[in-house]
Amino acid sequence: MELFETMLQHTSVRSFTDQKLSHKLKEQLFLAAQSASSSNFLQAFSLIEITDTKKRKMIEQIAKFPIDNGDNGELYIFVADLNKHAQVLTLNNDSLEHLRSVESLVVSIVDAALAAQSMAVYAESVGLGICYVGGIRNDLFQIKELLDLPELTYPVFGMFVGYPAGKNEVKPRLPIDSVVGTNTYRTLTPDMIDSYNEKTTAYYQQRNSNIQETNWSEKVRQHFESPRRSDTVDFLKKQGFVF
Ligand SMILES: Cc1cc2nc3c(=O)[nH]c(=O)nc-3n(C[C@H](O)[C@H](O)[C@H](O)COP(=O)(O)O)c2cc1C
Repeated sequence: MELFETMLQHTSVRSFTDQKLSHKLKEQLFLAAQSASSSNFLQAFSLIEITDTKKRKMIEQIAKFPIDNGDNGELYIFVADLNKHAQVLTLNNDSLEHLRSVESLVVSIVDAALAAQSMAVYAESVGLGICYVGGIRNDLFQIKELLDLPELTYPVFGMFVGYPAGKNEVKPRLPIDSVVGTNTYRTLTPDMIDSYNEKTTAYYQQRNSNIQETNWSEKVRQHFESPRRSDTVDFLKKQGFVF
C-alpha cells in the first residue's frame, strides 16, 4: 500500500498476535523515532522499552489498559527529557534556570511526540499496529518510580506496537475545512459540528465492536466534564520545572 493510503487507514490497534518483532525491526523503529525533526536539535526525548512482564502489568494497571494479558505486542514509553541537557550544563557549571521553564518543557514534549509519531508511521508502513497509551499519566509518581525517571523528565505516553490481531474501522476525522484555514484561523461553526456529529453518530452505531449511542460532541463533553490528572503540575514541579 502507498504510504499515503496506509496513513489514511490508521486505526489504533488494541490486540496483537503472538508474532514477535525482530531485533532488526525494533532497531528500525528506534531509528525512525530518532530521525524525526527536533527543536534546535536538542533531541529532548528518551524511549524506554518495557520487557519486564511485572513492570508491564503494573504500567497497564496504571493506564487501565490491559493488552493480551501482557503477552503480545511491545510497550514503549516516550519520555520528554531535559535531563541529558542538564548534565551538559552542569558539566560546564552553567545555570539550569532556562532548562526548567515551561517553554523548555513544551519543546521536550513536542520532541517526544514527533519521535513517537515517526515511529508510528514507520510501524504502520510495515504492517504493524500501534496504540498510544496516555493512561500512563494516571499515576505519574508511580510511573516515575517504576522507570527510575530522573529530574527534568516527564513520561508523556506509552505506545503498544505489534502485529495486529484485528483492525477497527477508520474513525471519520473532522471536516478538513474546519481544520485547515487559509491565512487566518478557521473557526468550527455550529453547522460543521452538527454535520460532523451526524457522521460520528453513524460511525459509533455501525462499527463492528463497542457500538455506542454517541457522537463527537458528546465525547468532547464527557472528556471535559471533570478534572483529569490534576497532580500534573505538582509532579512537574517536583521534577524540577518552574511555573
Ligand atoms: C497521546 C495519546 C494518548 C492515547 N491514550 C490512549 C489510552 O490511554 N487508551 C486508549 O485506549 N487509547 C488511547 N489513545 C488512542 C486514541 O483513543 C485514538 O487515537 C483516537 O480515539 C482515534 O482513534 P484511531 O487512532 O483509531 O484513529 C491515545 C492517543 C493519543 C494520541
